[in-house]
Amino acid sequence: MLIQIPELLSPQALQQCQDLLAHAEWVDGRVTAGTQSAQVKNNWQLPEQSRECQALRPIIAQALNQNALFLSAALPKRIFPPLFNRYEGAHNTFGNHIDNAIRACPVTGQRIRTDLSATVFLSDPDSYEGGELVIEDTYGQHAVKLAAGDMLLYPSSSLHRVEAVTKGARIAAFFWLESLVRETERRRLLFDMDMAILELRSSQGDTAPAVSLTGCYHNLLRMWAEV
Ligand code: NI
Repeated sequence: MLIQIPELLSPQALQQCQDLLAHAEWVDGRVTAGTQSAQVKNNWQLPEQSRECQALRPIIAQALNQNALFLSAALPKRIFPPLFNRYEGAHNTFGNHIDNAIRACPVTGQRIRTDLSATVFLSDPDSYEGGELVIEDTYGQHAVKLAAGDMLLYPSSSLHRVEAVTKGARIAAFFWLESLVRETERRRLLFDMDMAILELRSSQGDTAPAVSLTGCYHNLLRMWAEV
Protein backbone atom coordinates (compact mmCIF):
# COMPACT_ATOMS: atom_id res chain seq x y z
CA MET A 1 0.00 0.00 0.00
CA LEU A 2 1.33 3.43 -0.94
CA ILE A 3 0.25 6.28 1.30
CA GLN A 4 0.76 9.93 0.54
CA ILE A 5 1.12 12.27 3.48
CA PRO A 6 0.42 15.75 2.08
CA GLU A 7 2.20 18.73 3.67
CA LEU A 8 4.19 16.72 6.18
CA LEU A 9 6.36 19.82 6.42
CA SER A 10 4.79 23.21 7.04
CA PRO A 11 5.91 25.96 4.63
CA GLN A 12 8.22 27.28 7.41
CA ALA A 13 9.76 23.87 8.13
CA LEU A 14 10.23 23.26 4.40
CA GLN A 15 11.94 26.61 3.97
CA GLN A 16 14.23 25.86 6.93
CA CYS A 17 15.18 22.53 5.30
CA GLN A 18 15.78 24.12 1.90
CA ASP A 19 17.97 26.85 3.46
CA LEU A 20 20.10 24.26 5.28
CA LEU A 21 20.41 22.11 2.16
CA ALA A 22 21.41 25.03 -0.07
CA HIS A 23 24.89 25.21 1.50
CA ALA A 24 25.45 21.54 2.24
CA GLU A 25 28.39 19.51 0.95
CA TRP A 26 27.41 16.18 -0.56
CA VAL A 27 29.24 12.85 -0.79
CA ASP A 28 28.79 9.71 -2.91
CA GLY A 29 25.46 8.05 -2.01
CA ARG A 30 26.96 4.58 -1.91
CA VAL A 31 28.14 5.15 1.69
CA THR A 32 24.94 3.57 3.05
CA ALA A 33 24.17 1.10 0.24
CA GLY A 34 24.34 -2.69 0.45
CA THR A 35 26.62 -4.48 -2.05
CA GLN A 36 23.80 -5.13 -4.52
CA SER A 37 22.18 -1.70 -4.40
CA ALA A 38 25.64 -0.04 -4.56
CA GLN A 39 25.87 -1.27 -8.15
CA VAL A 40 22.78 0.67 -9.20
CA LYS A 41 23.00 3.63 -6.82
CA ASN A 42 24.36 6.80 -8.36
CA ASN A 43 23.40 9.87 -6.37
CA TRP A 44 24.65 12.27 -3.73
CA GLN A 45 24.06 11.99 -0.03
CA LEU A 46 24.51 14.28 2.95
CA PRO A 47 27.14 13.00 5.43
CA GLU A 48 25.40 11.98 8.66
CA GLN A 49 27.91 13.84 10.79
CA SER A 50 27.51 17.10 8.90
CA ARG A 51 26.08 20.13 10.68
CA GLU A 52 23.26 20.32 8.14
CA CYS A 53 22.18 16.70 8.60
CA GLN A 54 22.20 17.11 12.39
CA ALA A 55 20.06 20.24 12.09
CA LEU A 56 17.66 18.73 9.55
CA ARG A 57 16.86 15.52 11.42
CA PRO A 58 14.89 17.08 14.31
CA ILE A 59 12.81 19.15 11.85
CA ILE A 60 11.64 15.97 10.12
CA ALA A 61 11.24 14.09 13.43
CA GLN A 62 9.04 16.81 14.88
CA ALA A 63 6.85 16.88 11.77
CA LEU A 64 6.43 13.09 11.91
CA ASN A 65 5.48 13.11 15.58
CA GLN A 66 2.80 15.73 14.97
CA ASN A 67 1.24 14.11 11.90
CA ALA A 68 -1.85 12.04 12.77
CA LEU A 69 -2.13 10.53 9.28
CA PHE A 70 1.47 9.29 9.42
CA LEU A 71 1.07 7.89 12.94
CA SER A 72 -2.09 6.03 11.97
CA ALA A 73 -0.73 4.68 8.69
CA ALA A 74 2.71 3.65 9.96
CA LEU A 75 2.13 2.83 13.65
CA PRO A 76 5.84 3.51 14.11
CA LYS A 77 7.87 1.63 16.70
CA ARG A 78 11.36 2.74 15.73
CA ILE A 79 12.24 5.36 13.13
CA PHE A 80 15.64 5.45 11.47
CA PRO A 81 17.09 8.98 11.60
CA PRO A 82 16.40 10.51 8.16
CA LEU A 83 19.09 10.69 5.49
CA PHE A 84 19.15 13.21 2.65
CA ASN A 85 19.95 12.65 -1.00
CA ARG A 86 20.37 14.67 -4.12
CA TYR A 87 20.04 13.58 -7.74
CA GLU A 88 21.75 15.93 -10.14
CA GLY A 89 24.20 16.02 -13.05
CA ALA A 90 26.21 12.81 -13.46
CA HIS A 91 24.88 11.43 -10.15
CA ASN A 92 21.24 11.33 -11.08
CA THR A 93 19.66 7.90 -10.69
CA PHE A 94 19.10 4.86 -8.46
CA GLY A 95 18.21 1.63 -10.29
CA ASN A 96 15.87 -1.16 -9.18
CA HIS A 97 16.52 -2.50 -5.68
CA ILE A 98 14.86 -3.65 -2.48
CA ASP A 99 15.95 -1.92 0.72
CA ASN A 100 17.97 -3.88 3.30
CA ALA A 101 15.75 -5.72 5.78
CA ILE A 102 17.69 -4.74 8.89
CA ARG A 103 19.41 -1.42 9.61
CA ALA A 104 21.48 -0.47 12.63
CA CYS A 105 20.49 2.93 13.96
CA PRO A 106 23.61 5.13 13.69
CA VAL A 107 22.68 6.98 16.87
CA THR A 108 21.68 4.18 19.27
CA GLY A 109 23.19 1.12 17.51
CA GLN A 110 19.77 -0.52 17.90
CA ARG A 111 18.69 -2.70 14.99
CA ILE A 112 15.58 -1.71 13.08
CA ARG A 113 13.56 -4.08 10.86
CA THR A 114 12.53 -2.03 7.85
CA ASP A 115 8.77 -2.48 7.42
CA LEU A 116 8.13 0.84 5.70
CA SER A 117 10.26 3.12 3.56
CA ALA A 118 9.58 6.85 3.33
CA THR A 119 10.56 9.64 0.97
CA VAL A 120 9.96 13.28 1.84
CA PHE A 121 10.18 15.37 -1.33
CA LEU A 122 12.09 18.60 -0.70
CA SER A 123 12.41 20.11 -4.19
CA ASP A 124 9.66 21.86 -6.09
CA PRO A 125 8.62 19.29 -8.78
CA ASP A 126 8.65 22.05 -11.42
CA SER A 127 12.34 22.70 -10.71
CA TYR A 128 13.59 19.36 -12.09
CA GLU A 129 12.78 16.84 -14.80
CA GLY A 130 12.63 13.08 -14.27
CA GLY A 131 13.35 11.79 -10.77
CA GLU A 132 10.10 9.86 -10.33
CA LEU A 133 10.11 7.30 -7.54
CA VAL A 134 8.86 4.14 -9.28
CA ILE A 135 7.48 1.40 -7.04
CA GLU A 136 6.42 -2.04 -8.23
CA ASP A 137 3.85 -3.95 -6.25
CA THR A 138 1.26 -6.63 -6.98
CA TYR A 139 -0.96 -3.97 -8.58
CA GLY A 140 1.70 -2.90 -11.07
CA GLN A 141 4.06 0.07 -11.28
CA HIS A 142 3.47 3.43 -9.67
CA ALA A 143 5.52 6.50 -10.59
CA VAL A 144 5.39 9.10 -7.86
CA LYS A 145 6.60 12.70 -7.80
CA LEU A 146 5.14 14.82 -5.04
CA ALA A 147 5.07 18.48 -4.05
CA ALA A 148 7.90 19.74 -1.83
CA GLY A 149 7.02 18.94 1.78
CA ASP A 150 4.88 15.89 0.93
CA MET A 151 5.87 12.36 1.92
CA LEU A 152 5.31 8.93 0.41
CA LEU A 153 5.19 5.79 2.58
CA TYR A 154 5.61 2.40 0.88
CA PRO A 155 6.36 -1.16 1.96
CA SER A 156 10.11 -1.74 2.24
CA SER A 157 9.56 -5.13 0.63
CA SER A 158 8.75 -3.55 -2.74
CA LEU A 159 11.12 -3.23 -5.68
CA HIS A 160 11.71 0.44 -6.45
CA ARG A 161 13.95 2.89 -8.28
CA VAL A 162 14.46 6.59 -8.89
CA GLU A 163 14.38 7.57 -12.56
CA ALA A 164 17.23 9.68 -13.91
CA VAL A 165 16.98 13.40 -13.25
CA THR A 166 17.62 15.00 -16.62
CA LYS A 167 17.37 18.65 -15.58
CA GLY A 168 17.67 20.49 -12.26
CA ALA A 169 18.16 18.78 -8.90
CA ARG A 170 15.90 16.48 -6.89
CA ILE A 171 16.54 16.63 -3.14
CA ALA A 172 14.70 14.41 -0.69
CA ALA A 173 14.81 13.04 2.82
CA PHE A 174 14.43 9.29 3.18
CA PHE A 175 14.24 6.84 6.04
CA TRP A 176 12.92 3.49 7.16
CA LEU A 177 10.85 2.48 10.09
CA GLU A 178 9.86 -0.55 12.06
CA SER A 179 6.14 -0.67 12.70
CA LEU A 180 4.36 -1.89 15.83
CA VAL A 181 2.36 -4.04 13.39
CA ARG A 182 4.67 -6.01 11.14
CA GLU A 183 2.20 -7.30 8.53
CA THR A 184 1.20 -4.87 5.79
CA GLU A 185 -2.34 -6.31 5.53
CA ARG A 186 -3.01 -5.93 9.25
CA ARG A 187 -1.60 -2.40 9.25
CA ARG A 188 -3.78 -1.58 6.27
CA LEU A 189 -6.90 -2.90 7.98
CA LEU A 190 -6.19 -0.87 11.12
CA PHE A 191 -5.56 2.25 9.04
CA ASP A 192 -8.81 1.88 7.07
CA MET A 193 -10.69 1.27 10.30
CA ASP A 194 -9.14 4.28 12.01
CA MET A 195 -10.02 6.53 9.07
CA ALA A 196 -13.62 5.23 8.98
CA ILE A 197 -14.02 5.74 12.74
CA LEU A 198 -12.69 9.28 12.40
CA GLU A 199 -15.27 10.06 9.72
CA LEU A 200 -18.06 8.42 11.70
CA ARG A 201 -17.20 10.39 14.83
CA SER A 202 -17.03 13.69 13.00
CA SER A 203 -20.35 13.15 11.19
CA GLN A 204 -22.35 11.39 13.94
CA GLY A 205 -20.50 12.24 17.15
CA ASP A 206 -19.43 9.74 19.77
CA THR A 207 -22.44 7.46 19.47
CA ALA A 208 -22.48 4.05 21.19
CA PRO A 209 -21.55 2.20 17.95
CA ALA A 210 -18.67 4.65 17.35
CA VAL A 211 -17.37 3.99 20.88
CA SER A 212 -17.73 0.25 20.32
CA LEU A 213 -15.85 0.37 16.99
CA THR A 214 -13.10 2.45 18.59
CA GLY A 215 -12.81 -0.29 21.20
CA CYS A 216 -12.52 -2.91 18.44
CA TYR A 217 -9.71 -0.88 16.84
CA HIS A 218 -7.74 -0.76 20.08
CA ASN A 219 -8.35 -4.42 20.83
CA LEU A 220 -7.13 -5.43 17.37
CA LEU A 221 -4.08 -3.23 17.85
CA ARG A 222 -3.50 -4.82 21.26
CA MET A 223 -3.69 -8.27 19.65
CA TRP A 224 -1.27 -7.48 16.81
CA ALA A 225 1.17 -4.91 18.15
CA GLU A 226 4.72 -5.94 19.11
CA VAL A 227 5.75 -3.26 21.56
NI1 NI B 1 15.55 2.25 -1.68
